[in-house]
Amino acid sequence: MSDDLEDRIQAAIQNPQNIGEMSDADAVGTVGSESCGDMLRMWVKFKEENGRRVIDKATFQTFGCQTAIAVASVATELIRGKTSAEAIALTGGELAAPLGALPPMKIHCAQLVEGALKNALSGEPASEAPASAPTLLEQMSTPTGLKIKMQTPL
Ligand code: FES
Repeated sequence: MSDDLEDRIQAAIQNPQNIGEMSDADAVGTVGSESCGDMLRMWVKFKEENGRRVIDKATFQTFGCQTAIAVASVATELIRGKTSAEAIALTGGELAAPLGALPPMKIHCAQLVEGALKNALSGEPASEAPASAPTLLEQMSTPTGLKIKMQTPL
């Protein structure tokens, strides 16, 4: 990993944005990576702005690596003000863009964030009510946890 990228990841995880559950979220999505076993959950809240329903705030929790934390931190800032359709169209690379290009072995970390966001927005309004959803730790320890197949690291 380049020094610049490592510096940006370190800066992001030293001051991560938007960590934590959101009790009044409109949508929530959880994914687990089959390649590394990490999990990430994202909560999304919408607001009306100029006649459009846009993302007001997004938060996350993860049992993931530093790169996943850094990507989730910048991604939750990046998607503010976007419609659900605009946000769901973003790739992991686009969500991680404020950090710079990720090396191939870290692409799946951004895909974890992309997967949680798509999972949340594709089911929106949330079929999984945030108030009744198991905690991320509880979901990790059950065999029914949501899984998506991630790109295998090189
Ligand atoms: Fe699992 Fe980064 S190593 S998300």
